[in-house]
Formats: sequence, structure tokens, C-alpha cells
Amino acid sequence: MTDIRIAPSLLAADFARLGEEVRAVEAAGADWLHLDIMDGHFVPNISFGPSLIKALRPHCRLPFDVHLMIAPADPYLAAFADAGADIISLHPEAGPHLHRSLQTIQALGKKAGVVLNPATPVDSLTHVMDLVDLILVMSVNPGFGGQSFLSSQLSKIATLRRMIDASGREIALQVDGGVTARTAPDCIAAGADVLVAGTAVFGAPDYASAIAALKKGGA
Ligand code: DX5
Ligand code: ZN
Repeated sequence: MTDIRIAPSLLAADFARLGEEVRAVEAAGADWLHLDIMDGHFVPNISFGPSLIKALRPHCRLPFDVHLMIAPADPYLAAFADAGADIISLHPEAGPHLHRSLQTIQALGKKAGVVLNPATPVDSLTHVMDLVDLILVMSVNPGFGGQSFLSSQLSKIATLRRMIDASGREIALQVDGGVTARTAPDCIAAGADVLVAGTAVFGAPDYASAIAALKKGGA
């Protein structure tokens, strides 16, 4: 049985108490902290940038999983690496040279991820499988928390699971958007091993039981 990791998305946390919130999800059993970076251009929302990540870094020992929804992304990769990101993921649509962006992230000593929007096919990954450490399947259109899970993405997760297994490389397969205790089992059955959850964790009264309920999908 694959170990399922849970990455709470800070987007759904109480922004007036972020230090406390990251300490609370770490204590509640989260595996990674998912940080959604939005520029109001690539997606129709603005969140936060590297300075916030830097401020949170001393408050949390979890790997910082940075999901860039910005275009261009290349000019900011070093800033996110310096701020304390451990994994940096970006969308192929964010720039013309995905291969170069992935090389840049790895040259900064960080793990590199590719994010597929609901309408983005898996083909953009075919020739970069040797460079990716993580593949993120968006199960909502990026930009906002609290949207409904798109079950049309389950077959994409299953296809990617086969591609990852065939590659023989250790690549995390993450799903993001509308993940709840109800939708998590389908994601896990399709082959996902990292679940991002904003509302389902930070919107719950008890973070530890919310995280445990998401993980149970794999039990
Ligand atoms: C959406 C973000 C997600 C979002 C998930 O653009 O990438 O990480 O925070 O939120 P929920 O879990 O509430 O759908
Ligand atoms: Zn995200």
C-alpha cells in the first residue's frame, strides 16, 4: 500500500493567523504544506509571494510545496527557492520553455513539478519525465479554493500513474482541488499519492481528524 501524503493548502487558512495555522497543521499530521502563488494574470486571483513564504519558514518543518500560478514564472524561481521552497511546480502554459524551467528549478537544488490544468493533456510531460519529481493534476480550474471536484480528471490520474510506473522514476502524483474525505478515495484508487486539501483541512473544526479522514481513503 502506497503511503498517502496530505498537503494542506494555506489558501484556506486564516490569513490573520498564518504562523499559528502552519504550526497547527504540522502538529495535526500534515506531510507537506501547499502554497498557492497567484498573480492575477495567469489566474484571476492574487494570493501571496516569496516574502510570506520566507516569513513562515521558521514556523514549520514540513516540506514547502510551492504551486506557481504565475506567468512568466522563470524570473521568480530563484526568489521562491531562496524563500524556502522545497518543491516548485509550474504550469506548462506559464512559459514557452518548460524543459528549461524544470532544469532551472533543479539547478537551484529544489524538486521540480509540472501542473496540468483540467483541459491540459498529459502529452506535455512525455519528453520531460526524466526531469520531473512531481506531477500535479488540477481537479478544478486554478485560482480559487472551495470549488467542486472534477471527476473527469480521474482517468488522467490513472494514465499518469501508468506513465510514472513505466518511467521507473520516483515521481509524486498529486491531486489538487475539491479534495475531500468523499473524493479522496477515488483519487487514491486512480493512483494519486499526495492529496492537496484547502477547505477540507483548514475549514474543518479539527485539523487532525480532517487529515486522518483524507488519509483513510487509502486504508
Ligand atoms: C486552486 C489551488 C488549490 C486550492 C485548493 O487554484 O491550487 O490548491 O487551494 O482548495 P480546495 O481544497 O478548497 O479545493
Ligand atoms: Zn494548489
